[in-house]
Amino acid sequence: MAAKLMRAVQYDRYGGGGAALKLVEVSIPSPKKGQLLLKVEATSLNPADWKIQKGMLRPFLPPKFPFTPGTCVAGEVVEVGQGVTAFKAGDKVITLLHFTVAGGLAEYAAAEEKLTVHRPAGISAAEGSGIPIAGLTALHSLRSLGINLDGVDKPINVLVTAASGGIGHYAVQLLKLAGDVHVTATCGERNLELVKNLGADEVLDYKSPGGAALESPTGRKYDAVVNCVAGIPWSTLKANLAAGGKVADVAATAGDMLRAALQKVCFCNKRRFPLISTPDGPGLEFLVGQMMEGKLRTVVDSKFPLKRAAEGFDKSIEGHATGKIVVEIF
Ligand SMILES: NC(=O)c1ccc[n+]([C@@H]2O[C@H](COP(=O)([O-])OP(=O)(O)OC[C@H]3O[C@@H](n4cnc5c(N)ncnc54)[C@H](OP(=O)(O)O)[C@@H]3O)[C@@H](O)[C@H]2O)c1
Repeated sequence: MAAKLMRAVQYDRYGGGGAALKLVEVSIPSPKKGQLLLKVEATSLNPADWKIQKGMLRPFLPPKFPFTPGTCVAGEVVEVGQGVTAFKAGDKVITLLHFTVAGGLAEYAAAEEKLTVHRPAGISAAEGSGIPIAGLTALHSLRSLGINLDGVDKPINVLVTAASGGIGHYAVQLLKLAGDVHVTATCGERNLELVKNLGADEVLDYKSPGGAALESPTGRKYDAVVNCVAGIPWSTLKANLAAGGKVADVAATAGDMLRAALQKVCFCNKRRFPLISTPDGPGLEFLVGQMMEGKLRTVVDSKFPLKRAAEGFDKSIEGHATGKIVVEIF
């Protein structure tokens, strides 16, 4: 019997950005052991989607061509694979698809049960799809900096760069859970008010001299930094760190990684370390819980239907999203 077909957006070579994405028909995946088949409602985009297409992680990713990008998915369970116990058909969920398989820009996707969480009625598909990679990276950054989200022991000053972006906007909100944390944030001028409303205590326009220097207007030195901007020199960060200050760098370059390794072996007092988030079902559950309690929200930059996913891809490449770019699957 012929396999049932679905629409999907794929690319079949490195490079080309949105123009290289094609709307095609492919077979609907079958859920394997421990997997769920989802009818995808929304998939948010991440810079990694186009960086992988560009070939920045070759030869490891994508695993093969053609490839369907999209890892951060909200949808509805239509079928469960062998051994799945926590979900049934009809459940609304949020899931993280591995970069090694992806598949979010499609009508149906096979998701791992252990990386899937229930999506309460109060969370829309678009909002929910924003969470997985960006939310987990924000959460893992704060944890790696030793910031206890249940409440810090003593007052601390934290800087979040690109606080208007996918990761940064979640990081600012999560920091407010931790109690006595003074948050300084950077973003473009048009988003100063938004980032303040997310909970930042002071916000710097990154194009202003003080913003480019990352200097707190109130003269604070940072105990911790979540850096979401590639290419910020170590000298700029170091000048603003308190004694023992640490930088979790989610946008580290190869040079940053080398310096981080040296700083580690030298037991440097001030350090910058690369942060690469990992798939984390319990972390996802935590973030969805915070959203349900009204302590976390997704700022949706823009929404595109599947057939216009290429426009969303190009918007992500431009690097000026405010919050998350979402592709709605209809
Ligand atoms: N390590 C990991 O596990 C991991 C996971 C996910 C992502 N990442 C990486 O982390 C980085 C950030 O990802 P993202 O999804 O948050 O990006 P994003 O959503 O694309 O970030 C866009 C935002 O960054 C702002 N921005 C750009 N340059 C800035 C600067 N110099 N200072 C302050 N704000 C600036 C833009 O503001 P304007 O529009 O005003 O310019 C825009 O609002 C990317 O390099 C991504 O590849 C790493």
